[in-house]
Amino acid sequence: MAKVISFINYKGGVGKTTTTFHIGCALAMFEPKKKVLLIDADPQTNLTFLCCDFKSWEHRVKVNGSLETVYSAYLDQKTSPLEDIIWKKPMARPELSNVDLVPSTIELLDIDLRLQSKTHAATTIREVAQTHLDQRSILLNAIKEIADQYDYVLIDCPPNLYLATQNALYASDGYLVTLMPDHFSTVGVTFLDRKVRQLLKERNLAEQIVDPNSEGARRLPSYLCFVKVNVTAGRQQIVAREQMAIVRGMPNFKDKCFDTHTEDYKDIREATTEQLPVFLNSSGSQNDVLYRRMAEEFREKLG
Ligand SMILES: Nc1ncnc2c1ncn2[C@@H]1O[C@H](COP(=O)(O)OP(=O)(O)OP(=O)(O)O)[C@@H](O)[C@H]1O
Ligand SMILES: [Mg+2]
Repeated sequence: MAKVISFINYKGGVGKTTTTFHIGCALAMFEPKKKVLLIDADPQTNLTFLCCDFKSWEHRVKVNGSLETVYSAYLDQKTSPLEDIIWKKPMARPELSNVDLVPSTIELLDIDLRLQSKTHAATTIREVAQTHLDQRSILLNAIKEIADQYDYVLIDCPPNLYLATQNALYASDGYLVTLMPDHFSTVGVTFLDRKVRQLLKERNLAEQIVDPNSEGARRLPSYLCFVKVNVTAGRQQIVAREQMAIVRGMPNFKDKCFDTHTEDYKDIREATTEQLPVFLNSSGSQNDVLYRRMAEEFREKLG
């Protein structure tokens, strides 16, 4: 049964997509090789375009649909099996043949509004709680059908905590927050932690309203990893080190920070342009070594 892990942060540009892609590729490429499904839950479609070119994506989503198809089917009270949407081996390189993809489209942008508009039908507190759970369990139910085909399902979330991210969290066995070490991220990580805890509490409450015998409090394993750490000698490098030390010392995060961080080098940008992980584009480069190590830590910590 697959381990489902979401990569989240409501801040934009903090390496969620790059880290989902690299950890996914590393798990699939390096011994013991694992079967990995990448799910692009972001309407920006960045993860999708790390895995395929525009023309093949356009054709593919027209014929087989995208993640948005799963949500639309729920709204139209139909079913659309994830099995039919999953793009098997979207990347040509044989080293990446263990990676499959659920692509995204810009249409995912409207999904929150469309899901929210369904709430009005609920009247009793039990109905409200049931709708709350239903709207956030769409991805969970879709993944259940295919979970036995994979070792890992990795979900790249958009930079917000709206319903697409909440669906990802409900479907997950754990989550990883990617973080750049600067002052605002350090402040933001506490807000993020509080907000995610609140979302999970709301889930427990809704479950108990619907079924008073339900399990009760459930916590998701969560970790933090620092990415894109500034390595240019000078003030910024000092700030990065200071901020990492501050977060590592916070009681809430003390045992939750990955030892490995990735650094701000051009190897990532060059690999992105080639739609390849650094492991294949610039073997031996700084982030090749660091992302391999981060993936090993991911296996150790998240199973
Ligand atoms: N270790 C790194 N070294 C250099 N550049 C990096 C590194 N990690 C990520 N980047 C670059 O930083 C930019 C933002 O990364 P990415 O798209 O992964 O962030 P994100 O959190 O997914 O953004 P969004 O919130 O918009 O989805 C990209 O241009 C990416 O290539
Ligand atoms: Mg992204």
